Amino acid sequence: MSNHLYRLVLQVPYESAEAFAEAIEIHCDTVAWTECQGETTAKVTGFSLKLPKEETVVRAVSIAAEAMGVLAPEVDISQISPKNWVLENIKQFPPLTVGRFFIYGSDFDGQIPVSRIPMKIPASTAFGTGNHGSTQGCLIALNGLKFGSVQTALDMGCGSGILAIAIAKRWRCPVVASDKDIKAVRIAKKNVAANGERGLITVVDGPGYQKRILKGRRFNLIISNILARPLVKMSNDLSNYIAPGGTVVLAGLLASQEVQVLMAHRMQGLKLKRRIRVDGWSTLVLQKYAQL
Ligand SMILES: C[S@@+](CC[C@H](N)C(=O)[O-])C[C@H]1O[C@@H](n2cnc3c(N)ncnc32)[C@H](O)[C@@H]1O
Repeated sequence: MSNHLYRLVLQVPYESAEAFAEAIEIHCDTVAWTECQGETTAKVTGFSLKLPKEETVVRAVSIAAEAMGVLAPEVDISQISPKNWVLENIKQFPPLTVGRFFIYGSDFDGQIPVSRIPMKIPASTAFGTGNHGSTQGCLIALNGLKFGSVQTALDMGCGSGILAIAIAKRWRCPVVASDKDIKAVRIAKKNVAANGERGLITVVDGPGYQKRILKGRRFNLIISNILARPLVKMSNDLSNYIAPGGTVVLAGLLASQEVQVLMAHRMQGLKLKRRIRVDGWSTLVLQKYAQL
């Protein structure tokens, strides 16, 4: 192993973490991001075996910032020892238990608790290691749904595929997992295979509900951890794909954005069943009125 390892760190607004991670990806061997506890910011961390050219990275970050209309964050590049790098990665993504779900990364070599549903989700550039409050809110919501209540599910905005995997493992039912980001789709497919769920989960790429595979389908669970604005925009489409009496789990919104998301979905015949808040992030569990 090389004796030289370099770490790049950016503190960025949470919403822009994915774009900044993409901006530095080409200059690193691996990139991941985690939400800073209780904040609306995220820490994007890249590791590289070669010393990245600071001015090139700064330029890439500035271009990304300009495109998003946010301030360019400072780029912190430091050298660390390979040993520390491995330790840091493990520390950054320790195994996580949320209800009955036990999420662990590729470096985990401990004992998986027998009473839990294990999910292997290695750190990656796709959102969804389980550390973020919105993903945790969704897992808590899934944990609370009844055992026999799901027969077909859709995970809109699947990222790493974590929620689709949780659903398939808990209910042993077919799941469509969709994401507009082709890189996330690639990672989700890998994670689905690593968790032995290729038989139940179909991962597709494309924005929103425009995919052919969805045409004419009705799901009795739709879960979507995106952001408040796209959730509102897609509420009408969502209502066409949720079966009467079906459950909808919405996340990616701050507590202050609950009202706008709720209003949009109430207009589509959905009623609020449960509200979960983790680190300021709100998850809403709704139910579509059953047809008379
Ligand atoms: C916050 S991440 C959630 C990932 C994962 N489901 C979780 O809960 O951790 C949101 C994901 O939604 C995807 N996304 C955003 N807008 C979308 C859209 N209109 N259609 C499909 N996917 C979308 C993003 O690419 C990203 O991977």
